[in-house]
Amino acid sequence: MTKQTIDFDQNAPIAGSEYDNMAPLALPGYEAMHQMALACLQANLPPEANILVVGAGTGMELIKFAKGNSKWQILGVDPSEKMLAIAQEKIQQHNLSEQIKLFQGYTDNLPEDSIYDAATSILVMHFIPDDGGKLAFLQSIAQQMKSSSTFILVDVFGEKGTDDFQQIVSLIKKFWQQTGIPEAKQIELLETIDKGVYQISETRVLELLEQAGFSKILRFYTGLWVGGWMALK
Ligand SMILES: C[S@@+](CC[C@H](N)C(=O)[O-])C[C@H]1O[C@@H](n2cnc3c(N)ncnc32)[C@H](O)[C@@H]1O
Repeated sequence: MTKQTIDFDQNAPIAGSEYDNMAPLALPGYEAMHQMALACLQANLPPEANILVVGAGTGMELIKFAKGNSKWQILGVDPSEKMLAIAQEKIQQHNLSEQIKLFQGYTDNLPEDSIYDAATSILVMHFIPDDGGKLAFLQSIAQQMKSSSTFILVDVFGEKGTDDFQQIVSLIKKFWQQTGIPEAKQIELLETIDKGVYQISETRVLELLEQAGFSKILRFYTGLWVGGWMALK
């Protein structure tokens, strides 16, 4: 079974209540990345489609995708009760409860297989160690997808301990200074990433995607250490 290692109800790196304000400051290109993920879906999906959003969190991409096509049906899955409560509020505010449903739990708890025309995992898999957990996570998503469907993966990537990684960390610190994240919060974020984020090289991302049954992989987005890939099941 796929499990998270950081529990967003107990020790979230960015608490649910501050997530929507902090995510765009902490994650380079956050809003543009969701916009580009939507462009990938719009380019590949039929006018009527079912989309599985894994790790829906506070619902940022749920709202964006639903507004991108009023005929898409979207299921947001997340184990965190607190994050989903915020997502639910947004769904109501935007009057989108016919189009967006929520499921508290993991992808492998979902009842049906092979019914989605697309799936997304945005900023989730990097919390899962690469000890079989990441592969199981990707396989559980692939199992829910129809053949020839589109998958979007967005994660922090890069190999800790390498010169390239150190260079990216120094760029991230500058980015955080620009966006006004206080010094103490920067230290906290770096500690969380050090202990609780299991990012991997792009080579390894591609290998795992292929092992889970995905092909035609294309990187559609890079924001310093955040990468986005589109693939076909
Ligand atoms: C950093 S938030 C990302 C939220 C949203 N996708 C976004 O783009 O802002 C990560 C979310 O993934 C959820 N999560 C962690 N492990 C998960 C897993 N194995 N399956 C599904 N969701 C998971 C967390 O509860 C949290 O809400």
